[in-house]
Amino acid sequence: METDVTIAIDDSDAKLTDQVVASFANTPDLRLRTLMQSLVRHMHAFVRETQLTEQEWLSAIRFLTETGKMCDGVVRQEFILLSDTLGVSMLVDAINHRFASGATDTTVFGPFYIEGMPERAYGENMASTPGTPAIVHGQVRSTDGTPIAGAVLDVWQTAENGMYSGQDADQPLGNLRGRYRTDAEGRYAITTILPVSYPIPTDGPVGKMLSATGRHPWRPAHLHFMIDAVGHRRLVTHIFDKDDEYLESDAVFGVKTSLTVTYRERAAGDELARRFNVQGPYREANYDFVLDRS
Ligand code: BEZ
Ligand code: FE
Repeated sequence: METDVTIAIDDSDAKLTDQVVASFANTPDLRLRTLMQSLVRHMHAFVRETQLTEQEWLSAIRFLTETGKMCDGVVRQEFILLSDTLGVSMLVDAINHRFASGATDTTVFGPFYIEGMPERAYGENMASTPGTPAIVHGQVRSTDGTPIAGAVLDVWQTAENGMYSGQDADQPLGNLRGRYRTDAEGRYAITTILPVSYPIPTDGPVGKMLSATGRHPWRPAHLHFMIDAVGHRRLVTHIFDKDDEYLESDAVFGVKTSLTVTYRERAAGDELARRFNVQGPYREANYDFVLDRS
């Protein structure tokens, strides 16, 4: 008899899912119809699989409400942080860049990009806070090997305290940010500081989720790039310091081996240092980017 009752409950569960899926059947936009119906099926399957309690569902709603309240529309975007720490951002990235074309690998955009940062000259120093001086340079090419002149590299990284300008009232907004342009041979050069590993913000619901699940919030040291060039697809990526201790356990799963680079130790006053007016010993990273044609 007990078995019959269980079956009856399962049947009405399944009927509910079918009903909700059917309620989207007349959605005029076919893609939206597919997304909504699939979302409902997967959410219902999750609730069924975990036998979610009412208390747990309420907690989830509170968690999402807090996540929304944490967003300020400028530098804090807790939903991106949530998507990143759940690996969804990197999954979407993988699905949308799955065909090897020879172009540089992509990775997460992250929540700390700011539009309209200063245009900078070739090799200009973008750091106004202390750190180990570093010169990052290389070439931007098309997948057929042609150098791309006039490509714009929008770059951003944290200061030594692990915070981005915009997050930290003590940094001028343009600190460690800027837009560089490639020269006639497709070359770029950035004077900056050695990036450091840093924790993603933990003062919101995502931080609570990480600590409740025993996860650490650290990202390996990196420099962000968003590269645009006429006739090419935009490239959003980072380069990571090959020696960083968090390469294998990035809190947002963004590391790809192809994006790691050695920041080599260089002696004070060598040719590159003189060219870009870098004082004292410094680090040099050389990295070329390849862009897909659009
Ligand atoms: C970042 O690298 O800026 C970042 C990416 C994802 C989540 C948090 C920060
Ligand atoms: Fe970052």
